[in-house]
Amino acid sequence: MGLMEGKKGIIFGIANDRSYATYITKSLLEHGATCAFTHLPGDKMERRCRKAVEELGVTDPWLVPCDASSDADLDAVFDKLAADFGTIDFLVHSIAFADRQFLQVGNFHTTTREAFTQALDISAYTLVAMAQRAAKIMPNGGSIISMTYYGGEKVVPGYNVMGIAKAALEHSTRYLATELGRSHKIRVNAISGGPLRTLAASAVGKINEMFEHQEAKSALGRNIEGEEVGNTGVYLLSDLSSGVTGETIHVDAGYSIVGW
Ligand SMILES: NC(=O)c1ccc[n+]([C@@H]2O[C@H](COP(=O)([O-])OP(=O)(O)OC[C@H]3O[C@@H](n4cnc5c(N)ncnc54)[C@H](O)[C@@H]3O)[C@@H](O)[C@H]2O)c1
Repeated sequence: MGLMEGKKGIIFGIANDRSYATYITKSLLEHGATCAFTHLPGDKMERRCRKAVEELGVTDPWLVPCDASSDADLDAVFDKLAADFGTIDFLVHSIAFADRQFLQVGNFHTTTREAFTQALDISAYTLVAMAQRAAKIMPNGGSIISMTYYGGEKVVPGYNVMGIAKAALEHSTRYLATELGRSHKIRVNAISGGPLRTLAASAVGKINEMFEHQEAKSALGRNIEGEEVGNTGVYLLSDLSSGVTGETIHVDAGYSIVGW
């Protein structure tokens, strides 16, 4: 029997077949989960997301538009989810955004108030916004995960304001875990994934050097596969990890443990 058999949840962040969220969905489906999806508003976004989901074998997916920086969009998603699913057991937050102009090496100090606020809003606050809505339809407890990167712990040239957002995301994970663990039996964790060639990654200056660096320095001497993050997603969203909350688990081939 699959680890996610009988569990229902929602996934934010499938842009195409290369998205981290797609790999997480693939593993969830393999383990028997029932999944709902959102896409950024717009026909092109919907087409790409639908294609990726259908390629995973989901015909006629539950798929609605959502700009997570809009409270009205989030309310509409969770209202519809409650109406159609009743309750859910898990939520995947795999979204981030920062103006690529400020993701170039040497540009962090030029970040505008608007770009800083937007990056923190879309990449970190939205986890809180989703968790507070999800808690209302997780009466049996649940598990929430998000995606982060090492650039939230240490300076990674070019990651810039996104690193600040990831630091906020990781610490929001701990506060959410503490509050929602006691009140709602909801666990909240983050996966710190190694670099993967996705749309979001292409916005980061020096991304090619990051892949080379990862291969040269990581404990396993290689980059990671999307499936490795997908499988960790299932671990964190299933009862296998019932005693784990507030954690950031590195799935980075041991890059973050090496100090040189
Ligand atoms: N690719 C990497 O190297 C890497 C490494 C570690 C962590 N991550 C994180 O993984 C997560 C997923 O990114 P990815 O690499 O799969 O790239 P991706 O481009 O496939 O996914 C990013 C997603 O964010 C969504 N998004 C952006 N703004 C949004 C908004 N306002 N409302 C709703 N959705 C919005 C996009 O639609 C897209 O689906 C991000 O949090 C990213 O920071 C990526």
